[in-house]
Amino acid sequence: MAELTAKDFPEGFKWGIATSAAQIEGAAFEDGKGAEIWDVFSRIPGKTFSGQTPDLACDYYHKYPEQLKMMRELGFNSHRFSFSWARIFPDGTGRVNQKGVDFYKRAIDEMLKLGLMPNATLYHWDLPQELEYRGGFLNRDIVSWFTEYAGFMFETFGDVVPMWATFNEPIATYVGYALGAFAPGRKLEKYGRQANHNLLCAHGSAVKRFREIFGERRDKFDMAGPNAGIVVDVWHHHPARPDDPGDCAIAELENEKAYRSYLHPIFKGGYTGALLKYMADNDCMPDILPGDFELIRQPLDFFGLNCYNRVVDSTEPADIRKTVEFAGGNYMDNGAEFYPRAIYEALHNVTENMGVNVPVFITENGTYNCEEAVVACPDGGQCVHDVTRVKYFRGFLDWLHRAITDGIDVRGYYLWTLLDNFEWTAGNSMRFGIVNTDYGAENCIPKDSAYFWKDFLKNS
Ligand code: BGC
Repeated sequence: MAELTAKDFPEGFKWGIATSAAQIEGAAFEDGKGAEIWDVFSRIPGKTFSGQTPDLACDYYHKYPEQLKMMRELGFNSHRFSFSWARIFPDGTGRVNQKGVDFYKRAIDEMLKLGLMPNATLYHWDLPQELEYRGGFLNRDIVSWFTEYAGFMFETFGDVVPMWATFNEPIATYVGYALGAFAPGRKLEKYGRQANHNLLCAHGSAVKRFREIFGERRDKFDMAGPNAGIVVDVWHHHPARPDDPGDCAIAELENEKAYRSYLHPIFKGGYTGALLKYMADNDCMPDILPGDFELIRQPLDFFGLNCYNRVVDSTEPADIRKTVEFAGGNYMDNGAEFYPRAIYEALHNVTENMGVNVPVFITENGTYNCEEAVVACPDGGQCVHDVTRVKYFRGFLDWLHRAITDGIDVRGYYLWTLLDNFEWTAGNSMRFGIVNTDYGAENCIPKDSAYFWKDFLKNS
């Protein structure tokens, strides 16, 4: 069978690259931006790899014209990015930083000029620190704080940005409040559940605001006008041994605590019985106000699915799980399982079991640390080989295509990501880019995967 190319996908399909503000912008304290929680968290000793911070990242704040141009030259037609809340509202609410607004105006203008459809996310893990001082996501006022910010952005950029996701991967907020592993570094299961509940209410409230501003758009999906959605990552947990009750129980509970705890309230209404039982049994039931579930379950125009892999659970230790007897033993050199079918299963799962009944965009997909050392290439330039990443993309594109052939309404795919960037706690030690970043130096080398994409998108 001939290898797939972009031409095998539906007409009008969006092909894009995803990024996020804190991971690429840099200029963390420039032009009036307020501190956000990763600026602070990354400065606590031991929290990030080598104490690295988002201060410089890919310096997109200054280099956005060339980075956007790179995307276009590779053949992409859309860019998914996030706004930095603290660049717009340095204190989280109230005073607007005009220089921040102007920066995004310039960047969006550039995207439009190049032919990259802007796809914006309002929140990609970077809460203004001033709001964290006031309790952050544990304070119910987050609902009005976020709605004020969202409303301002809709009004300011609604005529040039057709896609708006409220939140990227709510689970990161859980990790930041329950596990302490992400900013802001709080560590109590009850905090995690409360933070997530408040986040879901903030999502619903922002979408209501969106409808007030732009009117009812449900069932009138049209890329020409603004559309509202949310981005959730699905890492479906599988039992390593499907006939082992212990393995099955772990996988089932993890699915309840992770993606189902967001998708169920958003698309079906309320928490599942299993999650309610878990929260009651573990003293982590959030405060839920009357009307919250109606607020959360707002009609959406699209759903953003981030899909990287699956998780295999077992009562047995992790190293045993990597063997053929368990998951099949198909692991990449970076330690991650090669399981491209994850995207096919996730698409079927969300549309068949989770109530997702709107067009879906794959808003992130990618893998890390596949690159070999920089070498000289035949034309005299420099090359970075990342053969495994190419294999990864091919595998996922193949299974994505199968899901579309099955009839699932997928309208676009965004890879993660253009340049190696600030990978949260892993700092610069985890490389996800299709272009090599030599931090601080003017040296960006396209990897094999960049050439793969250029070829894949050719004439699309
Ligand atoms: C996040 C990104 C992150 C990527 C790779 C996703 O879950 O949205 O911010 O860089 O995974 O780890």
